[in-house]
Amino acid sequence: MKNNLIAASILSANFTYLGKEIEDVLKAGVDIIHFDVMDNHYVPNLTIGPLVLRSLRENGIKCLIDVHLMTKNIDNLIIDFIKSGASSIIIHPESSYHLDKSISLIKNYGCKAGLALNPSTSLNCLEYLIHKLDLILVMSVNPGFEGQKFLNHIYEKIFQIKKIINKKNILLEVDGGININNIKKIAISGANVFVIGSAIFKNKMPYYKTIKNIRLKLNTIF
Ligand code: DX5
Ligand code: ZN
Repeated sequence: MKNNLIAASILSANFTYLGKEIEDVLKAGVDIIHFDVMDNHYVPNLTIGPLVLRSLRENGIKCLIDVHLMTKNIDNLIIDFIKSGASSIIIHPESSYHLDKSISLIKNYGCKAGLALNPSTSLNCLEYLIHKLDLILVMSVNPGFEGQKFLNHIYEKIFQIKKIINKKNILLEVDGGININNIKKIAISGANVFVIGSAIFKNKMPYYKTIKNIRLKLNTIF
């Protein structure tokens, strides 16, 4: 597996032709599609549900798809998204009454489980759960919208989580405000999966050039 993985957040894609957008970014070299689910309760925005994921799968999209659940009432949605073809499900601790149970639900269906930490969420919630996690998603913006600015205190938070992960087989994914200018510092802080929305889809450059430039930046780290 590559050292650094790029996940394209389709929140910034053109939804008129979502399938083509996904095929294009995959051809351009992204490793993962990041599927942001918002319910207008947990976050003040509304996006897409399991139906869209199922349709992508039924129409030949075979890549890894991260489902990032920013919703309330997650347990039913977890099952629906797994049945619709999610490769991993990422949930927020604040969105579950019984977090251990929700994470176990994901694992029991044979899906990868991730925990997402908002900018102000403490690392304490990792203490009794980390042994069940496949990935930790560090939010570097408050969830809800694309195109926000990366919050500066998150570099240190990534570094602290990297120390907690130590040698465990857990991906450290960062989501929000990542671009060509800050990705190197984020990687040096300890991240190995980078969720990128507007810097790919809202960039005037062709997707393959953006991805190539990002990889070149990441390759300058020794
Ligand atoms: C924010 C979402 C992110 C976001 C990333 O709530 O989880 O995935 O869309 O978009 P950019 O890269 O534009 O911050
Ligand atoms: Zn996300």
